Amino acid sequence: MKTKAPAVKVDDRVQAARLLHQVITVGCTTDQAFARTTDPISPLSREMVYGSLRFFFSITDQISAVLHKPIEHKDQDLWALLIVGTYQLQRMRIPPHAAINETVGACEGLGKPWAKGLVNAVLRKLALEKIPERTFDHPQWMLDLIMADYPEQAVDIFHANNRQAPMALRVNRARISPEAYRNKLAEAGIQASPGWLPETLVLEAPVSTEKLVGFASGLVSIQDAGAQFVPELIPLESTTRLLDACAAPGGKLFHLLERYPGIDATALDVSTTRLKQLDLQARRLGHDTFTTLQGDASNLEWWEGDAFDVVLIDAPCSGSGTIRRHPDIKVLRGAKDVKKYAELQLALVENLWRTLRPGGTLLYCTCSLFAEENDKVVNSFLQLSGGAPQVLEISLPVGQATQFGWQLLPTDDDPKKTTDGFYFSCLKKTV
Ligand SMILES: C[S@@+](CC[C@H](N)C(=O)[O-])C[C@H]1O[C@@H](n2cnc3c(N)ncnc32)[C@H](O)[C@@H]1O
Repeated sequence: MKTKAPAVKVDDRVQAARLLHQVITVGCTTDQAFARTTDPISPLSREMVYGSLRFFFSITDQISAVLHKPIEHKDQDLWALLIVGTYQLQRMRIPPHAAINETVGACEGLGKPWAKGLVNAVLRKLALEKIPERTFDHPQWMLDLIMADYPEQAVDIFHANNRQAPMALRVNRARISPEAYRNKLAEAGIQASPGWLPETLVLEAPVSTEKLVGFASGLVSIQDAGAQFVPELIPLESTTRLLDACAAPGGKLFHLLERYPGIDATALDVSTTRLKQLDLQARRLGHDTFTTLQGDASNLEWWEGDAFDVVLIDAPCSGSGTIRRHPDIKVLRGAKDVKKYAELQLALVENLWRTLRPGGTLLYCTCSLFAEENDKVVNSFLQLSGGAPQVLEISLPVGQATQFGWQLLPTDDDPKKTTDGFYFSCLKKTV
């Protein structure tokens, strides 16, 4: 007789396996896979997908070691189910018999009842055997880059990347004070502690946006505590002409508008889909004083020739600083991507520099840990531009100085104040 764990439904495994399959076989990001799913995604399947990706390399090594032959291409959903099953078995507080039985049962849901014996055999073997884990659960190229860039801190970074990130909020100070909002949270039974900045709050436990007080009415946004440092680095005046050159979905732009209402802001992005998301968020938060442009920031076709006082480049990047939130990055990205991003990043800085007025400031930032996308991009730009840019010294209450800027790492010990990995560099145009 099979015993069923009461709180655990077969459907969760089927859903998790299908979502994971979208990521590891089709190549979607988790965000894309979740967005494509029409059924509500249960917290349990969400956890199984994220956890399976966090420990993907160890788990797949172990499954491969006990499989007699690889799973065929047409049955990669079963491969995903085996990964989800192994994750439950090894990393979740689900009794092994329940993890195995429910995963075996999920073969029906995937329309492959013939695979029950195989799934059962693999998981039973893995329940008995203790196979050594792959070091740190990162791909080798990523281990190499992080060890080269952070010889002292690499191990801590690997561990931090495999932990869940806290949910941080940015209170919309144009609408409510952080204290008043925190009281609203407390009334709703949601505990939060202050972050690095007055508008930052960090939740003790994550909640869905539906349960987040005042989210729909624009009192608050969800934003990593590190991403919230941008207004600290570029204090703006009410007359400032700002270009946010990679603006969508608008997190940093809206933060700047909440801090410095009245600035003359232009939001540029190449992606119409992402600009639609920016528009939705703008409406939710009540921001309607900025201009939106669709265009490619690596050329000047969109520019009418009026120089900007401040240019923010929140560049497209590998996202290696956000692995805690997006463990799919470890599975989907390769070393070649980092090179491609670095080329695009340099092209963006070079091109957008031309839109900045003399005396103006450019803030370049990424959510990457890799020097190749950070200091090395700034260095290449400085080499090319022969002395006109002045690197401004910046300093934040957390993180570390780099040659040309500041780096945040996801390794802070205080769980209430951890940030994703971010890089910032501030350049002043002297002539
Ligand atoms: C890191 S995201 C920006 C996040 C945004 N600043 C925020 O805080 O919500 C990078 C953005 O750059 C955009 N992008 C990529 N290549 C671009 C290009 N050539 N020109 C303009 N935008 C680009 C992407 O569509 C993406 O929205």
